[in-house]
Amino acid sequence: MTSPSSAQASNDDLETKPGKATNIVWHHSTVTRAARAHQRGHRSAILWFTGLSGAGKSTLANAVNSALFEQGLACYVLDGDNVRHGLCADLGFSDADREENIRRIGEVAKLFLDAGVVVLTAFVSPFRADRARARALVDSGDFIEIHCAADLEVCERRDTKGLYAKARAGTIKDFTGISSPYEEPEAPELRVNTGSQSLEESVAQVISYLEQQGVVPAPGES
Ligand code: ADX
Repeated sequence: MTSPSSAQASNDDLETKPGKATNIVWHHSTVTRAARAHQRGHRSAILWFTGLSGAGKSTLANAVNSALFEQGLACYVLDGDNVRHGLCADLGFSDADREENIRRIGEVAKLFLDAGVVVLTAFVSPFRADRARARALVDSGDFIEIHCAADLEVCERRDTKGLYAKARAGTIKDFTGISSPYEEPEAPELRVNTGSQSLEESVAQVISYLEQQGVVPAPGES
C-alpha cells in the first residue's frame, strides 16, 4: 500500500499555484488512493516507456498490460499515436508541441495513478526535461521509466510504419532520430533491449521488476 501523503502535498500546492484560471480550489476526494489500493489488492504506478519510433514501446506496453490484466490488475495503456487522435490532436512534432504533449500525458497519468490504475504510457518523449517534469508530478517510486533501447539502425531497418523512409526523403520534418533529437535516459529504472531480445524476454524483465517493487504480487503471493 502506498501513502497518498506527498501526492496529497502536490495537490495542496495547486491551491496556491493555479495555472491560468483563478478562484479554483482543490477538492479532496473522499475515496483515497490508499483505499483504492486496499480494495483492489495492488498499488498503482506509472510505467513510462520511452524510446525511438519503432523501438517497440507500444508492443511492449501492450504485452505487459495484457500480462497485468490476466493477473487481475487494473491497468491501462496511453499510447502516443492513439492519444494524438483525440486529447492531443491539436499538437504536432515541434519541440514545443512535444513538450505540451508530454505535459498533458504526465497529468493524465497522474490521474490514473490516483485512480488506483497501473498506467503504461508509450510515447517517444524524446526530451529529458519533459520526462523529468512528468516524473516530478508524483512521488518517487510511483514513476518507473522504462527505456526501450533499440538502436536507430534497428528501428530504421524495421520501419514498421514507413516513416523513416519518409523522414530520410525529407517528406516528414522533425522526425525523431533523423531530424529531431532523442535524449536517452541517463538513469531509467529499467533499460530493456527491445532491439535484440524477444518480446517474451522483455515482458518477463518488466514483470520481474514490478514484482520486486511490489506493484505486481510476487508468485505465490495472493
Ligand atoms: S512525442 O515525441 O510527442 O512523445 P508521440 O509518442 O506522441 O511523440 O508520437 C510519436 C509517433 O507519432 C511515432 O510513433 C510515429 O508513429 C508518429 N510520428 C509522426 N511524425 C513524427 C515525427 N516527426 N517524429 C516522431 N514521431 C512521429
